Amino acid sequence: MYKIAILVSGRGSNLRAILNTISNNISVAGIVSDKIDCPAFAIADQYNIPKFSVAEKSRSGYLDYEELLKIFSEFEIDLIVLAGFLKKIPDKVIDEYEGRIINIHPALLPSFGGKGMYGINVHRAVFNRSCQVSGATIHFVDKIYDNGKIIAQEIVDISDVQSPEEIAERVLKVEHKILPEVIEKFAENKVIVKGNRVIIQN
Ligand code: GRF
Repeated sequence: MYKIAILVSGRGSNLRAILNTISNNISVAGIVSDKIDCPAFAIADQYNIPKFSVAEKSRSGYLDYEELLKIFSEFEIDLIVLAGFLKKIPDKVIDEYEGRIINIHPALLPSFGGKGMYGINVHRAVFNRSCQVSGATIHFVDKIYDNGKIIAQEIVDISDVQSPEEIAERVLKVEHKILPEVIEKFAENKVIVKGNRVIIQN
């Protein structure tokens, strides 16, 4: 069984897409948020998946990252998936899971990435530059925001959009498609890093 942990901060539409799509050799062993009342926890409850809240500083009701790493080790997590997680992952987690943490970003990195580039901010910036395409990027997480090697991208035509919200809608559809696909490829051990390139085998 390939075990994943999913980190969320918002409504969890990517989480739901993963749960609705992954094959039964993949198990979502835990769902983690930086919020104690994260809306996406309602999805965890529907699927009876253990949920945890994590914070850098100790707060009641929250784990710290040392405790979270212990749980991930007990659960034998193979892959950590950031699906709208808004906090930076501490270096100690990156060190422990280097090459096994991925993030989905709602733009074509390296454009429109980095600190502050999340949610509608991204689509507003894309809209205001009059970009004719946008898309979603899945990348490895390292110690710099939105910086790790790119694993997968898919573009959407936005030449006819009238608002950043329209871009968000089109990009989200692509996110829901490619994130489960990439997780499946990790479970099949078909994501290969060769030098600077990431290759997804058929
Ligand atoms: C997605 O657009 C994702 O690309 C970004 O945060 C958003 C999360 O949305 N990182 P949801 O919570 O999965 O609906």
